[in-house]
Amino acid sequence: MIERILPAGVAVSEAFADLPGTDLFPEESRLIETSVAARQREFSTARRCAREALGILGLPPRPVLPGRHGAPQWPEGVVGSITHCAGYRAAAIARTTDMMLLGIDAEPNTPLPEGVLESIALPGEQRRVRVLNRTAPGVHWDHLLFSMKEAVYKSWYPCTGQRLEFEDADISVDPDTGRFTARLRLPDHPPQAALPSRLEGRWLAHDGLLITAISVPGARPGG
Ligand SMILES: CC(C)(COP(=O)(O)OP(=O)(O)OC[C@H]1O[C@@H](n2cnc3c(N)ncnc32)[C@H](O)[C@@H]1OP(=O)(O)O)[C@@H](O)C(=O)NCCC(=O)NCCS
Repeated sequence: MIERILPAGVAVSEAFADLPGTDLFPEESRLIETSVAARQREFSTARRCAREALGILGLPPRPVLPGRHGAPQWPEGVVGSITHCAGYRAAAIARTTDMMLLGIDAEPNTPLPEGVLESIALPGEQRRVRVLNRTAPGVHWDHLLFSMKEAVYKSWYPCTGQRLEFEDADISVDPDTGRFTARLRLPDHPPQAALPSRLEGRWLAHDGLLITAISVPGARPGG
């Protein structure tokens, strides 16, 4: 499903259920040995997806451990992202020679809890979401906006080391084309000259899930 919103050259693997017996490397197992069972399952299946995606790029299996602020650590020359939510796990990776930024996110197609939209969305985003919730039912546009912001963050942080706040990205969604734009509102932009201040993304709603992806092609600054 997620390959529909990512360009060629991005290797993806996704799962809609947890399969028992997913092998973890010892250093991965240690990370989740005291976690609740649900976290152990999502972590393990996401690692299986990550290793499948690495295999598609011709890379051997290896541990995928969290680095600074939780960002997944990929082998040298690889950029990538992981997501999991109820009923869905996925990993997407690419060569840093092909892809500058890559971030994916999945959320259930349900409304956000009361009051959350106001805390994650700019006033203009809130207005646009409310119009879409009235005029284009079937998609919970508030939760989709949240997912888009998460995808932006997951693409941006590993490259820049910059932790974005929700108000740092102003998102405009095209309800008809499955595309969206994130305009970054950073005082010191760009932290790396080659990085754009508008990120193009794609989204889809399918089978109770909202899936979003940011992919910015081009060689990653610094490799
Ligand atoms: C880190 C964060 C983005 C994860 O998103 P989420 O929707 O809660 O959870 P998901 O299941 O989709 O993704 C979890 C995966 O994100 C990845 N992740 C965690 N921290 C990350 C970071 N700093 N950078 C990139 N990826 C990160 C990890 O691979 C993690 O899976 P793992 O723990 O099994 O390795 C989110 O919890 C968060 O901190 N958000 C606040 C910041 C933000 O979104 N700002 C909006 C800016 S516009």
